Amino acid sequence: MKSGHCVRPRRSSNTVRGEIMKEILITAFEPFGGSPRNASAEVLRLLPDEISGCSVRKMLLPVVFGKAAEAVLQQEADAVFLLGEAGGRTAVTPERAARNLRDARIPDNEGNQPKNEKILPGGPAEFHTRISAGHIAAQMRSEGYSVAESADAGSFVCNDTFYLVGMKSRVPVEFIHCPADTGHAKEYAGTVRRFIELALSEIRVLHAAMEYVRRLYAENSDGHGWDHTLRVYRTAMRIADAEPAADRWIVSLGALLHDADDHKLFRTESNANTRYFLESCGTDPDTAERICRVINSVSFSKNKGKHPETLEGQIVQDADRLDAIGAVGIARTFAYGGKHGRTPEDSIAHFHKKLLLLKDLMNTSAAKELASSRHAFMERFLEEWNRETEE
Ligand code: NI
Repeated sequence: MKSGHCVRPRRSSNTVRGEIMKEILITAFEPFGGSPRNASAEVLRLLPDEISGCSVRKMLLPVVFGKAAEAVLQQEADAVFLLGEAGGRTAVTPERAARNLRDARIPDNEGNQPKNEKILPGGPAEFHTRISAGHIAAQMRSEGYSVAESADAGSFVCNDTFYLVGMKSRVPVEFIHCPADTGHAKEYAGTVRRFIELALSEIRVLHAAMEYVRRLYAENSDGHGWDHTLRVYRTAMRIADAEPAADRWIVSLGALLHDADDHKLFRTESNANTRYFLESCGTDPDTAERICRVINSVSFSKNKGKHPETLEGQIVQDADRLDAIGAVGIARTFAYGGKHGRTPEDSIAHFHKKLLLLKDLMNTSAAKELASSRHAFMERFLEEWNRETEE
């Protein structure tokens, strides 16, 4: 595979004016393994040319390790939805992750049959999509669709393409498996279309939330700014990758909006900024309530010693606390102290009062692991501080 290819957003997309998500790429696979048809290609053929205001570009991929992903990575699109066929499944199953593994039971269409190989040697064990397939599937089941999130994209060309495109693209990527039964292609196409509609609406809300928070913090320079929120969001998603039971949609918005009503920055009551944003983008009241509950369980000063009740709250709290320690935590402590007229010595005292305690307050195992290396770095910093100041 040539390096340097990645699916890029279209050059004309303008995030500032909200003109994102204009064109999406949907792919399916050619027949393979001696079968005359591939259900994913039937489903692709039945999908409309426009979904939720996005024009749809369709593409059929060769069932060949590496080559399928290479064909996708040469395209420009605002999001990519990869369709594949899964024999033995009876429902449409959007995938949550791809593994860094090639292990083929049968040869691909060029006769390659890798056994227990890495796709990217040295690459992460898994790629996780940022689309909340579990949350979307739950909503769709309440609408009567037969759909379930899957945590196993296999180890053949489907998984290979999802992993490579996911790792190398700069736009959202999701893989959706359809049952092999072509007799129900029309029903599966309806399900895939609804899933894509909801995924596009998620992506639009995420972009809007990022814009909203960025504007809220436009003037802030004391370590609680937009950059902090973005790091907390990324860390929270990373922790959620290791917590399959977490509702990733609640984690995403809880992390992005967790400081939108911070009492140090805004004089709002009852999560007013958060509720205003969620209402303005049509979030249902139950979801909005769950997000506010997550945000209210995160604060250090309001919740001393208390662990958030929900897993989503625990994840966002961990991510927020991780951003207070390590190299980033050190930089933020002095930035905050400087802005509020504290001496460096005052800021050093804050390490002992709060920051060195955070390691033992983490809720999730992924956060505990991240915290231990960040904690060790702060200890090294304090040792050096003491050495230099005692002289
Ligand atoms: Ni925060």
